[in-house]
Amino acid sequence: MNFKKITLKTHRLTIRPLSTEDYHAFYRVYSDPEAMKYWSSPPHKDEDQTKSHINNAIKNCDEGSSLQLAITLKSNDELIGTLSLFNIHEESRRAEIGYILASSFWGQGIMSEALSSFIKFCFETLQFNRLEADIDPDNQASSKLLKKHGFNVEGLLKERWIVNGKVTDSEIYGLLKSNYCLKTQSK
Ligand SMILES: CC(C)(COP(=O)(O)OP(=O)(O)OC[C@H]1O[C@@H](n2cnc3c(N)ncnc32)[C@H](O)[C@@H]1OP(=O)(O)O)[C@@H](O)C(=O)NCCC(=O)NCCS
Repeated sequence: MNFKKITLKTHRLTIRPLSTEDYHAFYRVYSDPEAMKYWSSPPHKDEDQTKSHINNAIKNCDEGSSLQLAITLKSNDELIGTLSLFNIHEESRRAEIGYILASSFWGQGIMSEALSSFIKFCFETLQFNRLEADIDPDNQASSKLLKKHGFNVEGLLKERWIVNGKVTDSEIYGLLKSNYCLKTQSK
């Protein structure tokens, strides 16, 4: 897929391609145990790990195999979170989404604002037919966010993840383009 030069603007945010210069801010988010509590990998241990993650993400984005974007406030170009698209199956026009926000910005509607524009972009520009999310059933904030944006719970996969020795289930959410279109038409 062509993921080059994607930038989304919302009322408060600029969502833009990741850059190697983001590593400080990225590390702050990805090393925070609170923000990483329900993540599928442990918090980053050092900035070298973050640098290598960002280099990989930029390479994957250039190759079109996955996408990770930086969420920034319009007033300041600093990364405060990320939005991702991965496990892409082009023929089936489906992909999985992931998101994280620095804990100091939680509860202000920021991810909801970012996700609205990202979902629109995925369905209307990238022409996906289905988006998926895999979350820890205990992750109330993530569950509320997904339901608010029309995702439905489609199933529970038991003991799907082991992160730092902790075994957790996966709650699988799905949003179809047809449901997204119905929702936007009724607005
Ligand atoms: C999940 C996350 C992105 C939400 O970001 P956020 O900007 O705080 O969310 P918003 O403010 O846009 O809130 C969206 C909805 O969820 C609700 N919500 C947010 N945090 C909540 C919480 N801790 N408990 C219950 N509901 C919550 C909000 O009330 C809002 O619903 P409403 O508009 O009906 O009131 C953020 O908590 C986060 O980064 N968590 C860590 C990373 C993570 O777990 N990512 C998902 C892994 S798949």
